[in-house]
Amino acid sequence: MSRLRACIIGTGSYLPARVLSNAELAARLDTSDEWIIERTGIRQRHIAADGEFTSDLGTAAALNALDSAGLAPADIDLIIVATATPDQTFPAVATVIQHKLGMTHGVAFDVGAVCSGFLYALSVADALLTSGAYRTALVIGAETFSRLLDWEDRTTCVLFGDGAGAVVLRAQASPGLSSDTGILATRLHSDGRYNDLLHVDGGPGSTGTTGKLRMKGREVFRHAVTNLAAVMTETLGAADLAPADVRWVIPHQANLRILEGTAKKLGLPIDRVVVTVDRHANTSAASVPLALDTAVRDGRIAPGDILLLEAMGGGFTWGAAAVRW
Ligand code: UT7
Repeated sequence: MSRLRACIIGTGSYLPARVLSNAELAARLDTSDEWIIERTGIRQRHIAADGEFTSDLGTAAALNALDSAGLAPADIDLIIVATATPDQTFPAVATVIQHKLGMTHGVAFDVGAVCSGFLYALSVADALLTSGAYRTALVIGAETFSRLLDWEDRTTCVLFGDGAGAVVLRAQASPGLSSDTGILATRLHSDGRYNDLLHVDGGPGSTGTTGKLRMKGREVFRHAVTNLAAVMTETLGAADLAPADVRWVIPHQANLRILEGTAKKLGLPIDRVVVTVDRHANTSAASVPLALDTAVRDGRIAPGDILLLEAMGGGFTWGAAAVRW
């Protein structure tokens, strides 16, 4: 039965110029390049400059995605930004980006699901586009996590970086078959029992300060592999696909060992997983669209390929999306 599908017609990304290496961290903390690489796969991360905000990163990624889609801001009627590091407590970063893009039309709002934010934003955009309410959306993941870090805490500060990624989605009439191009299925989950395992110890409504990121990494790790494998399997099932159909897993980039563990659970070789954690570290909501843009631009992703996007983060929140390119 014919229906609308949300199709990714452009991707873009932006990384701040400053690169912070493991060696620089080891010079000021009790850590080492060897420990960070062995336990996480991270070799470097990008850090936003003074005065460079999440909205700046998101705007640059959005312009890059618009350029790849051959569209202009005038063509967009919906902007959803996934972020946990807004420039200010409010307004939403999405409206700041809307303004920086020179738009006075359309609707723009943020979603907060930390590292899963891009999957949440993509799912909301998919629903709004396939209902016919909007036609062309910018979905952006943008973060400046460097500003949430306790730079004295070696168990967290070595793990994260700054960046932004974006996709342009367009509602397109499709036959309504699993062979359609576009987003085939999305699945989201959350479980607030685990808030304490990964959180920020401040906020406007409690301490009146921004606070710093706190994480019990080992426990988050254990949940991540189980939850991600489950939601990936669930999402593939919803799209009438099997793991063997997946050409590229586009995962949230928290830890190379998590990527290896989830791939193994699905019976997929690691060479079908797009890995950027070595260069970008964990950029929270930006990591999935950054990895997607990397693989699109280096030519790995071909028309017809099945992509499985997935992420897990604070809350806990987790989700996945199956997409035919
Ligand atoms: O994006 C949201 C989702 N986030 C994640 O998925 C993160 C999940 N967690 C992880 O990626 C890993 O658990 C970490 C990378 C955070 C930690 O790796 P781990 O293998 O689980 O290490 P651990 O926490 O069990 O710590 C092992 C040891 C400890 O020392 P002791 O107690 O055994 O003496 C830590 O103090 O490693 C020590 N350690 C470090 N050593 C050198 C922790 N951080 C560091 C460090 N450098 N940066």
